[in-house]
Amino acid sequence: MECQRTTMLSPQRMLGLLMLILLHGAADGACPPDINPLTLEPPVVVVRHGDPLEVNCSTLFNTHLGMHWVSTEGKTSLEEDRQFVTWNVAGVDWGTQAQCNIKLNGSLQCSQDLTLTVYKTPDSVSISVLSHSGPMVEGTEYQLQCDIQNIAPLQNLVVKWYKGNEPVGNVTYSNIIKTPVNVSATLMITPSRDDDGAQYRCGAELDLGPEGPQPHPTVTSEPLNITVHYAPKFLPGNDTVVVSAGSDVSLDCSAEGNPPPELKWTNNTAEGNANETTVGPLRTLSISRVTANATYNCTVTNRLGSITKQMHVLVEVPPQQQPTMFPTLPTTPGATTTLPAAAKPKVVTSPLELNPPRVVVRYGDSVSVNCTTSSTVHEGMGWEATYGGTGFEQDVNIVTWTVDHLTDWTIEPKCYMTLTNSDQPIEVLPVILYKTPDSISISPLSHSGPMVEGTVYQLQCDMQNIAPLQNLVVKWYKGNEPVDNVTYSNIIKTPVNVSAPLMITPSNISKTPVNVSATLMITPSRDDDGAQYRCGAELDLGPEGPQPHPSVTSEPLNITVHYKPVIERLNLHSHVNESSTLDMILYTVNGNPPPNAVWYQEGRQVNASAPLARSDSGQYVITITNDIGSTNSTVHITVEYAPKFTCPDQYIFKENENHNLLVTCTVDGNPSSKITWYKAQQKVDIPQSLTRENRGEYTLVTNNKHGQASHTLVIDVLYAPEFLLGNDTVILSGDSDVSLNCSAEGNPPPEINWTFAAGNVMVSNEGRQRTVRITRATSTNAGIYICTATNRVGTATRTTTVIPMKGYSTIMIWWIPVVILVTFVLIVVLYCRWRKRHGHYHFITNNNTEVNQPNNVPMMPLPTTVVGNPDPGGYPTKKV
Ligand SMILES: *[C@@H]1O[C@H](CO)[C@@H](O)[C@H](O)[C@H]1NC(C)=O
Ligand SMILES: *[C@@H]1O[C@H](CO)[C@@H](O)[C@H](O)[C@H]1NC(C)=O
Ligand SMILES: *[C@@H]1O[C@H](CO)[C@@H](O)[C@H](O)[C@H]1NC(C)=O
Ligand SMILES: *[C@@H]1O[C@H](CO)[C@@H](O)[C@H](O)[C@H]1NC(C)=O
Ligand SMILES: *[C@@H]1O[C@H](CO)[C@@H](O)[C@H](O)[C@H]1NC(C)=O
Ligand SMILES: *[C@@H]1O[C@H](CO)[C@@H](O)[C@H](O)[C@H]1NC(C)=O
Ligand SMILES: *[C@@H]1O[C@H](CO)[C@@H](O)[C@H](O)[C@H]1NC(C)=O
Ligand SMILES: *[C@@H]1O[C@H](CO)[C@@H](O)[C@H](O)[C@H]1NC(C)=O
Ligand SMILES: *[C@@H]1O[C@H](CO)[C@@H](O)[C@H](O)[C@H]1NC(C)=O
Ligand SMILES: *[C@@H]1O[C@H](CO)[C@@H](O)[C@H](O)[C@H]1NC(C)=O
Repeated sequence: MECQRTTMLSPQRMLGLLMLILLHGAADGACPPDINPLTLEPPVVVVRHGDPLEVNCSTLFNTHLGMHWVSTEGKTSLEEDRQFVTWNVAGVDWGTQAQCNIKLNGSLQCSQDLTLTVYKTPDSVSISVLSHSGPMVEGTEYQLQCDIQNIAPLQNLVVKWYKGNEPVGNVTYSNIIKTPVNVSATLMITPSRDDDGAQYRCGAELDLGPEGPQPHPTVTSEPLNITVHYAPKFLPGNDTVVVSAGSDVSLDCSAEGNPPPELKWTNNTAEGNANETTVGPLRTLSISRVTANATYNCTVTNRLGSITKQMHVLVEVPPQQQPTMFPTLPTTPGATTTLPAAAKPKVVTSPLELNPPRVVVRYGDSVSVNCTTSSTVHEGMGWEATYGGTGFEQDVNIVTWTVDHLTDWTIEPKCYMTLTNSDQPIEVLPVILYKTPDSISISPLSHSGPMVEGTVYQLQCDMQNIAPLQNLVVKWYKGNEPVDNVTYSNIIKTPVNVSAPLMITPSNISKTPVNVSATLMITPSRDDDGAQYRCGAELDLGPEGPQPHPSVTSEPLNITVHYKPVIERLNLHSHVNESSTLDMILYTVNGNPPPNAVWYQEGRQVNASAPLARSDSGQYVITITNDIGSTNSTVHITVEYAPKFTCPDQYIFKENENHNLLVTCTVDGNPSSKITWYKAQQKVDIPQSLTRENRGEYTLVTNNKHGQASHTLVIDVLYAPEFLLGNDTVILSGDSDVSLNCSAEGNPPPEINWTFAAGNVMVSNEGRQRTVRITRATSTNAGIYICTATNRVGTATRTTTVIPMKGYSTIMIWWIPVVILVTFVLIVVLYCRWRKRHGHYHFITNNNTEVNQPNNVPMMPLPTTVVGNPDPGGYPTKKV
């Protein structure tokens, strides 16, 4: 029956599916919108083109008329007895689409489309300058082009532009194109001189949403180095230099330009002893022994421009009066010597040279600076300082300022010399004394304990005793990633706490250590839970300063962020074993503090640790709560259990009637399972109608994932008796013994009875066979012997005609049929008459014959008129 129905419905279903494909919208309408019987796992698929894919479609309906997948790759076979079907594809193509279908009954069909995104990273990504080659010119607009070959889908593409490592622009596309395309994105740039040598790159990134691969697949171009040409520009420098007659002078005409500019000096003097030096962009003209005022024009030129700077050398007329000498300078620490006011030098190009010209010293370290002169017209020289002063030394060309442990924050050493004309040139040594902080610590401002997502907090970085403040850069880090910098370009005299950039006037200038507090505003998100913030104090002391920059970093501050729970993973259709509990349903929630789950069914709270019974399948609501908030979700729970048979041990049935074995023998289990029938270890189909061949012992086996069950069923098929042989005729041959056999088959085994009229007859049983033995048969034994087989299903009769033979048995043979025919006619006629004239007939009965049997046929003598029978008694004569 099962098979028949399937094949019968199949064309109908095919038609239904055809309709579904053709009339997509109309077929969807057939499924009420509030029913969603199908669940796809995964529900949304993002897959690389050509990759294999497997998607499961499952349903909650135990009984349905079949479910299957319809896709551009074909159809899967219709499944009636399963609650899921799997769709496999070896390589996903651009046009691939798939839909899971279920037929719930004859008219209700539902389907679920698979949301599928197929992507491909580009074959190549390259960057170029549009309509231009060679170097760029500062201030001109150019277009960079990023060519991306064969990328899909376009709507998920983000083209990211970078200059160096800094993002400078994004391009996204709203056109929905699912197949690979070639795309060109452009970026407008107006390079400045600082961009010379910059590297531009573009990256094609596919942002395929949360289901897509993370990190996003990205292909980045090779970098494009750009060269920017720009007109020359002078570096800052003095254009008027005042010198004393006879001394050397250096004129600085440093200029930048690309291509590197050419320099030309012109002058209006007759002097000729000059030397040009060029180191990169630095151009210096060294003129020795200047005697006259002069103007020097310096012209720098490249193909983008030419500029000229006038520089004046003013030669001071030597003063008439000799300056006061101070041969001994105090060298005692702490006592600052001051130069006589009259000796204060004018701004001149000093004949004194300091080596190094400026020093950066760590607090407490040693320092040593030489002061030299090439002058031959001086009387002596010396260092004047609170520490390490040398005093006036005569007839030397070098004096050295040395301090073993420099700790004076305000030290300002000066090298001086006394010329023979009493001039006293002086050179001040710039000293930067620095100190990293004694301690650096980070803490949340006005807050303790965990933070709450989305709230603004202030972190404070406290640094003790740092100098000089103007060189301090406070760097904030989250993990290892820099998040902010704070610099103090203003110079501060007195120790202050700085929590916001202060406006400080230059009068506050100090070089002494201060305590500083820097702050950072943060608005933590859930991802920041457990993040570590640090702050570092770094001293950027310029090119003369130590490299790398001295820095001190705080201990990390671990922050705890509390946030509302969200359910990240939860199977909305959970299948659980019988007697498992709701607590055992796996789900992932993200919440801090760790949230608690409470289950509800129909608004009432359910004990989640109580075992679930079979009847507990249904809709539940899980509510996840922590201090910050709560969230909930509806879950359909199916309680599953091993199959169990409901089936009698024995099934007795009449042959060829319609049986209801499928109703009588059922299996209860979840998921439901199919019964397999075995007879004598052979797998058999369930017979459609039971015949005697189907009798026997059957073993029924079923299983689902929770277990298996088997059952032994004995099927007994009853059928009416049937004789093994047809009617028979026996000819008596004289005085011999005759046996008449009768045996019949039937279920239950039939009871067999003989009915006859003769006397010298014995009836015996041999198994199923009942035999009538006529010893020394005579003509009186002739007649009709009727054998009746009876069981509860029915009755069958068989006659054996016994004919006497008087020597012409051979002649008689052709009479036999005639005799039988006549006999039969006579029986009928006589019987009818007897019925009419009841009581007027004589019956010859045998003691062994039971007349009260319902199927007994009345016995009667053979008529004497039988042709060929010479015996007037009409009975077979016994032959001796
Ligand atoms: C580009 O997009 C990213 C996010 O994808 C964003 O963080 C970044 O600021 C954007 N850059 C520009 C220059 O728009
Ligand atoms: C681009 O510049 C980098 C260094 O700045 C250099 O290593 C690389 O070779 C340059 N590439 C080209 C194509 O000039
Ligand atoms: C220019 O000269 C003044 C005083 O003469 C000096 O203070 C200043 O540092 C000089 N500037 C440069 C750039 O040399
Ligand atoms: C220097 O330049 C000025 C104007 O740019 C010009 O008047 C003067 O003659 C030039 N002097 C020399 C010596 O080139
Ligand atoms: C000044 O210019 C003349 C010729 O123009 C040149 O010979 C001389 O060397 C120059 N002097 C200096 C100091 O540059
Ligand atoms: C110019 O510099 C060169 C090398 O630096 C040196 O040999 C030459 O004597 C210098 N000339 C003058 C006039 O200073
Ligand atoms: C140079 O010029 C200044 C003023 O411009 C003047 O005082 C001085 O005497 C001049 N020097 C010579 C040597 O001419
Ligand atoms: C100073 O001069 C002395 C002697 O000439 C020399 O040994 C020393 O290295 C010099 N120091 C510096 C800092 O140049
Ligand atoms: C901080 O300064 C450094 C250079 O000192 C720079 O590389 C970095 O990008 C800056 N970071 C921020 C967040 O401003
Ligand atoms: C901060 O977190 C790190 C690991 O993330 C841990 O090793 C460290 O002990 C924590 N520090 C504090 C002060 O909690």
